Amino acid sequence: MQTRAAVLWEQNKPWHVEDIELDDPKAGEVKVKLAASGLCHSDEHILTGDMVLNPETSALMGVEQFPIIGGHEGAGEVVEVGPGVTTLKEGDHVVLSFIPACGRCPSCARGYQHLCDLGAFLLAGRQITDMTARHHTADGVDLGIMACAGTFAPYTVVAESSCVKIDDWIPLDKAALIGCGVTTGWGSAVNAADVRAGETVVVIGLGGIGMGAVQGAALAGARHVLAVDLVEWKRDKAIEFGATHTAASMEEAVAKVGELTWGAMADKAILCTGVATGDLIHPMMSMITKGGRGVVTAIGPIHQEDVKLNLFDLSMQRKELVGCIFGNANPRRDIPRLLRLYEEGRLKLDEMITTTYTLDEVNQGYQDMRDGKNIRGLITF
Ligand SMILES: NC(=O)c1ccc[n+]([C@@H]2O[C@H](COP(=O)([O-])OP(=O)(O)OC[C@H]3O[C@@H](n4cnc5c(N)ncnc54)[C@H](O)[C@@H]3O)[C@@H](O)[C@H]2O)c1
Ligand SMILES: [Zn+2]
Ligand SMILES: [Zn+2]
Repeated sequence: MQTRAAVLWEQNKPWHVEDIELDDPKAGEVKVKLAASGLCHSDEHILTGDMVLNPETSALMGVEQFPIIGGHEGAGEVVEVGPGVTTLKEGDHVVLSFIPACGRCPSCARGYQHLCDLGAFLLAGRQITDMTARHHTADGVDLGIMACAGTFAPYTVVAESSCVKIDDWIPLDKAALIGCGVTTGWGSAVNAADVRAGETVVVIGLGGIGMGAVQGAALAGARHVLAVDLVEWKRDKAIEFGATHTAASMEEAVAKVGELTWGAMADKAILCTGVATGDLIHPMMSMITKGGRGVVTAIGPIHQEDVKLNLFDLSMQRKELVGCIFGNANPRRDIPRLLRLYEEGRLKLDEMITTTYTLDEVNQGYQDMRDGKNIRGLITF
């Protein structure tokens, strides 16, 4: 069928919205009519080159990363089912999990679906089923899809393992945020930081991920949730999501945590800035107490290896520095679980969406993200 998509042809160029050809789903795949797609910072990392594979790695995978259709935070309705699909039927509503979960690999079997072996294909941009493309330009060039999803398009074809069925009555445009941002942020607090009742938690960076983390920390019973961002209105907004205090910089946050805890410092800190850079690690770790934990959820440039970190404190104060992907969640369990919390009014999704855009406005949406105007921008179809 013919449809449209926002395609990135090369690094540092704007998204290009164009007509594309979409094949029917093959074995193990479904076609999804998308209702909405969130504008997560991770797609921006492809545009800036932070998440671009070097040519040798691409060659090893046997694929070119560009051109690629963006978007990985979507929800919609299954409109066509390929042969061999057993868990989905036409008409089912689904959230696209940005990491597919096979349910059978060692990680899935261990309850670490966020580390599913299929995640190896996230940047390969082809169908997991057979490493070929279902998406092509109007003149036949194969197109990659971001995170096995490619949700910057009214229709996409994805593997069954990327889809998590949800209840029909949940608004799909809100459910889309659960496909990445909210689950990642919420799980960064609840799972990766393991926030306990009464703890002091610092969340650094208040986009879709950070606001999800603020909500997770508050719901887990944190005593203080200190929300840090350079942008003033986001700090004010964080209070509505459950933050108890705010700070305008890392330096201000270190001082404030000291005051709040009478020098004991925070139990947990979670890094959710637009880009993770090595210089942010030391200030984050200096905010946490003995035996405390720093969580890095923000994504750094793919080849960056330098980090500022006090190794004496790390061992002598038994601090933990941990990474986090997709909130360490199990999408098949946690996506429906978070949507229940939404239905019960305990997880805010509507309030996370600052501005909605048409597909043609995708570049405006990302400019607004860079300008600090959005918690989350959302493309609706
Ligand atoms: N680990 C994962 O599985 C995963 C999943 C999704 C997104 N991410 C990453 O999480 C990060 C956040 O994503 P997002 O969509 O919320 O981004 P965003 O751009 O919407 O929000 C980032 C926020 O950080 C703030 N910020 C930037 N530098 C800061 C600093 N030095 N101190 C305080 N605040 C600062 C910005 O003002 C902005 O409000 C990105 O790196 C994204 O790629 C990771
Ligand atoms: Zn994302
Ligand atoms: Zn798996």
